[in-house]
Amino acid sequence: MKIYRFDEIDSTNDFMKRNEELEDFSLAIAEKQIKGRGRFGKKWYSEEGGAWFTFSLKEDKNIREENGKITLLAGKAVEEYLSENINMDFKIKWPNDVYINNKKICGILTEKRDDFFIIGIGVNVNIEVFGEFEKTAESLYRLTGEKYNIEKIIFGIIDRFKIIYNRFLKGEWKIILNEINEKNYLENKEISVLKGSEEIKGKVLKINSKGWLVLEKEDKNEIEIDSGEIRF
Ligand code: BTN
Repeated sequence: MKIYRFDEIDSTNDFMKRNEELEDFSLAIAEKQIKGRGRFGKKWYSEEGGAWFTFSLKEDKNIREENGKITLLAGKAVEEYLSENINMDFKIKWPNDVYINNKKICGILTEKRDDFFIIGIGVNVNIEVFGEFEKTAESLYRLTGEKYNIEKIIFGIIDRFKIIYNRFLKGEWKIILNEINEKNYLENKEISVLKGSEEIKGKVLKINSKGWLVLEKEDKNEIEIDSGEIRF
């Protein structure tokens, strides 16, 4: 595993996308990102104190992998690691977050470069104040009053991801999906999903075998959604 450590960088995802020596499970870690990015080009809080990292994953041509499923597997890795090490009820929020107490503790940004997935994970570890993100973000420090070893968390999450990904390669997607649905933050919530200019409203039923979100609309018809921005 090739590891790149930075005191400061634009974004670990951007570094990995321009990295000329990309291998399977190359890892970039930054103490601070100047242009930390979330989905839809949103800014990601990236001051010192967080686990800001990106790893590469070589696509396996024999199985159907999509960004969406890979992101869910990564979300499950984070949820499992945190639940096991900090005894609290962490949840997976489709498609790319981990939540605790209705606040975001982790965001995941999966991108593609050639035949590699570029999996960027941000975990709010030792952060004391979030500034403009105060209302929506949470950190492990604020939850527990403890400061954590950030690299230990990063390597712990990657080890978890490898275990889950191997299960996925062995054909265990259905079982993993059940486990993800047991931790589905959105279950039974009334939400709307923004897809381009379209807004779809409904009650969340589950994540289906494609890794898509299934909603029950007001007219009781079900609709499955491949991606989008969630609103409450
Ligand atoms: C989101 O919530 O929309 C995804 C946030 C992803 C943040 C991580 S931090 C490490 C990596 N580098 C980035 O610029 N983004 C991801």
